[in-house]
Amino acid sequence: MITEEIISKFKEHPTPFYYYDLDTLHSVCETVRTESEKRGFRIHYAVKANFNPRILRTIASYGFGADCVSYNEIESAVNAGFSPENVVFAGVGKTDRDIEKALDMGILCFNCESVAEMEVIDSIAGRKGKTTTIALRINPYIEAHTHKYITTAIPESKFGINTWELDEVIDHLASLKNLDLKGIHFHIGSQITKMSVFKSLCSRINELQDWFSSHNINLEIINVGGGLGIDYSEPDKPAKFEEYFSLLKEFVRLRPGQRLHIEPGRSIVGQCGSLISRVLFIKKGSNTTFAIIDAGMTDLIRPALYQAVHKIENLTSDGIKGRYDVVGPVCESADTFAKLIELPETRRGDLIAIRSAGAYGESMASRYNLRDLPGSLFQDEL
Ligand code: LLP
Repeated sequence: MITEEIISKFKEHPTPFYYYDLDTLHSVCETVRTESEKRGFRIHYAVKANFNPRILRTIASYGFGADCVSYNEIESAVNAGFSPENVVFAGVGKTDRDIEKALDMGILCFNCESVAEMEVIDSIAGRKGKTTTIALRINPYIEAHTHKYITTAIPESKFGINTWELDEVIDHLASLKNLDLKGIHFHIGSQITKMSVFKSLCSRINELQDWFSSHNINLEIINVGGGLGIDYSEPDKPAKFEEYFSLLKEFVRLRPGQRLHIEPGRSIVGQCGSLISRVLFIKKGSNTTFAIIDAGMTDLIRPALYQAVHKIENLTSDGIKGRYDVVGPVCESADTFAKLIELPETRRGDLIAIRSAGAYGESMASRYNLRDLPGSLFQDEL
């Protein structure tokens, strides 16, 4: 919640910056811990969604594991308090350096995406005299009904192992003596709001489990990845964890000795962050009025990259409503946060909040146009 008191404090700070509401984050983590423990699920927070050190420390304090995609992410997670034995390492293009360092760190599991990758992990582990646990990331071919750039389980996707390759993969694994296959991993996309999509994933997992059983392979880890969406039109509303966890509990048929792992990113951090910006200029276009703000696509790329719609609020005006295109200062027409949205009369100096920006906001920021990276502020730093 951004209260009047918080807004008056924002006025003293240079913009743009990310404002994180730790009360919201704690409340989400509390729900996730309670609902997952109730069902015996293991949570691995997807660090890519937000790796701000204070956010990481807060999430780590709930005892969750981490899902990382580079050694730098692993190191940041461990420095923030995640234990290495609870780190899983995903990604289609792990570098030799990342693999070596992850092996030295003693992580829980490599989520492998190809035979070529398994061969490299096996050989590096062999050189170090180590063995390591792996899970196979399998492409279950499920349309996630989300933006095409964050859809990851369609036939031409670069992610995961195709089901028609599984026989060959298993045969080959027998010769990779330093790898211990303990799980299967899936991630079908992000910002998924249709629960039926997850239900289809559960059915697919059950079919694949039958395939592994028929090959006498016992799996301990069934990792369903992340993907649970948030409601961008209602920034104060948490994601539907209960519904999602209940669905997984009901529809994934776990076998004795198996545990279910989940890798939520956006659903944990999305609603706790807002990008706070100032209006630089109001400019008349032929059919529209532009509110040019000091935050740009370098601070939050989601609208430019995925045509994402974030709720935008003018925190310092209650004037007569008008329609505005809210745009950033970057030299790209894609640097547009919203078109023709209704805002109270907006003037130079007004504070603008772009809500639901806690996930894939700060973590995707860049220095294009040689702009400064956005800073971050927490309640107790105001
Ligand atoms: N696990 C794996 C293997 C992943 O690739 C991802 C996200 C997650 C978990 C976490 O998914 P989540 O719970 O956050 O949906 N930049 C995009 C999202 C990219 C997601 C990439 N993978 C965006 O801003 O919408």
